[in-house]
Amino acid sequence: MNRRAVVTGIGHYLPERVVPNSEFEATLDTTDEWIRSRSGIERRHFAAENETTSDLATKAALAALKDAGLEADDVDAIVVATSTADLTFPSAATMVQASLGMTRGFAFDVQAVCAGFVYALSTANALILSGQASRVLVIGAETFSRIMDWTDRSTCVLFGDGAGALILEGQEGKGTPQDRGILAVDLNSDGRYKDLLYVDGGVSTQTTGYLRMQGNQVFRHAVEKLAQTADTALARAGLETSDVDWIVPHQANIRIIKGTAKKMGLDMDKVVVTVQDHGNTSAASIPLALSVGKSRGQIKPGDLVVTEAIGGGLAWGAVVLRW
Ligand code: UT7
Repeated sequence: MNRRAVVTGIGHYLPERVVPNSEFEATLDTTDEWIRSRSGIERRHFAAENETTSDLATKAALAALKDAGLEADDVDAIVVATSTADLTFPSAATMVQASLGMTRGFAFDVQAVCAGFVYALSTANALILSGQASRVLVIGAETFSRIMDWTDRSTCVLFGDGAGALILEGQEGKGTPQDRGILAVDLNSDGRYKDLLYVDGGVSTQTTGYLRMQGNQVFRHAVEKLAQTADTALARAGLETSDVDWIVPHQANIRIIKGTAKKMGLDMDKVVVTVQDHGNTSAASIPLALSVGKSRGQIKPGDLVVTEAIGGGLAWGAVVLRW
């Protein structure tokens, strides 16, 4: 028995409103040129006023279910990675469950900020390998526009809203790195770095908060830790950098993406890049990039894909999977 959690469907949803960099020039001391050259971001999507994270997540989930040829009740569990759930509770995942009309199984959220989707994939993989679920709907969904301080030019130009979803299904493999599905995971966190990236408010402190980031400090940790976690996960899978077909990184900054690829010794033609169109969508960025990468014809069945992400906590990690 060599059970593997295999991706059998994927989809995404982006809110209608597209905001180009130039829109910030009217209210902030910034330029399209600064945002492009420092981050690689050209535009991002913002949710409509009445549109919530679970709304985005549900639309992405429907696209993934359609791609897999499944109905909601064919799924045993929903795991939503988000730091911007609609309400303090219940979870965004149970809201998605209700919106999909799913009347069985279980649903819960995972909160690891920008590393959230990697943590959610790891959790769903564990549910499948332990026999607690056969099919899991894994979603990354965020409305980071709701936690922006619109007077802080160093953060508010960087983030966007969106959602991506995939179906993970238990299948028998041969126990070799040639199997389809998740081959290895590496997760890390170090709470000593909590002041580098956080929201300065929340329920227990009875305040409404906004995202705060020491961008250049996070940047320094990012390149080093992302290359390291990707290498660790690859080694755990019994694979090497030369085996990689696609790196699908968290989309925070093109300079971090390029720096990590360079440190890993990989050319940029092996990297799926969507940061120019989405900005940083936190836990949604990897499933969005996977879905866009597949629809562009970049990621194909049998390809070896490495996802890696870092964010608030700091929390970071990587997943190696064969598509
Ligand atoms: O997703 C979670 C993980 N997050 C990340 O990975 C983000 C990591 N960090 C970054 O992407 C980059 O650090 C930023 C894009 C946030 C900033 O780039 P940087 O090259 O690290 O710039 P910096 O923070 O060192 O700032 C350089 C200058 C500063 O001015 P002074 O102090 O040199 O005069 C900033 O005040 O750029 C200024 N600046 C801006 N100027 C125009 C900051 N934001 C802006 C802006 N427009 N929007």
